[in-house]
Amino acid sequence: MSADVEKKIRHVGFIMDGNGRWAKKLGRPRTFGHSKGADRIPEVIETCYDLGVEVVSLYAFSTENWSRPKSEVDEIFKLLKNFLKKYSKTLIDKQIRLIISGDISPISEDLKKECIKLIERTKDYKQHVLNIALNYGSRAEIVRAVNKIKAKDGEITESDISANLYTAEIPDIDLVVRTSGEMRLSNFFLWQCAYAEFYFTDVLWPDFGKKQTEQAIEWFYGRKRRFGGI
Ligand code: IPE
Ligand code: IPE
Ligand code: MG
Repeated sequence: MSADVEKKIRHVGFIMDGNGRWAKKLGRPRTFGHSKGADRIPEVIETCYDLGVEVVSLYAFSTENWSRPKSEVDEIFKLLKNFLKKYSKTLIDKQIRLIISGDISPISEDLKKECIKLIERTKDYKQHVLNIALNYGSRAEIVRAVNKIKAKDGEITESDISANLYTAEIPDIDLVVRTSGEMRLSNFFLWQCAYAEFYFTDVLWPDFGKKQTEQAIEWFYGRKRRFGGI
């Protein structure tokens, strides 16, 4: 593998964590943190694209997040719907393809409609991709992939699995950024992160912006990726 290929950062995944703690520090409700967190998204993803990243994945809602109070879950979905509505013009102007990873069947009709409309409207854009993990869990995704291919004759290969994940059309993740000091994956793209670099920062998501994104990507370029070699 040439040095160029080894170093190129194509796909960055963000585990946007710490909204609740950020709000708590200010004595505000957790939902205030989610709202401020959603406001940071355009700046972060556009910084990535400006630095040559092709795909940005955002962990918006995990399959485990249903265990939160209903009022908080409803608010997260409402913010996501507002974000997509507001950001749809930019997706089109900047030719960003939207992909949703996860099972959107249980979400509200209007959010589902907004997602489907934008996925369809942006599907031919090639240069940039925004992949939102929504009601997403990596184990559920892998099980779903295996179920989709189990009727196949012969052995199931790695390519079969990759081709049946939500991310079939995008490259594996090169860099995972998790905010808020937690050092875990929380069921985020386990398969696609097989050779990812991991960047953990204590910064809480609502405080994470352009400067912090640049720092994370700069850190990535300082890593030596060996892919099993020496
Ligand atoms: C991340 O922030 C946002 C979602 C999980 C949707 P949290 O809500 O997990 O914030 P903390 O971790 O409780 O601070
Ligand atoms: C991961 O954050 C999920 C999202 C960012 C959407 P959580 O806050 O839900 O993860 P845990 O509970 O700390 O592992
Ligand atoms: Mg959290």
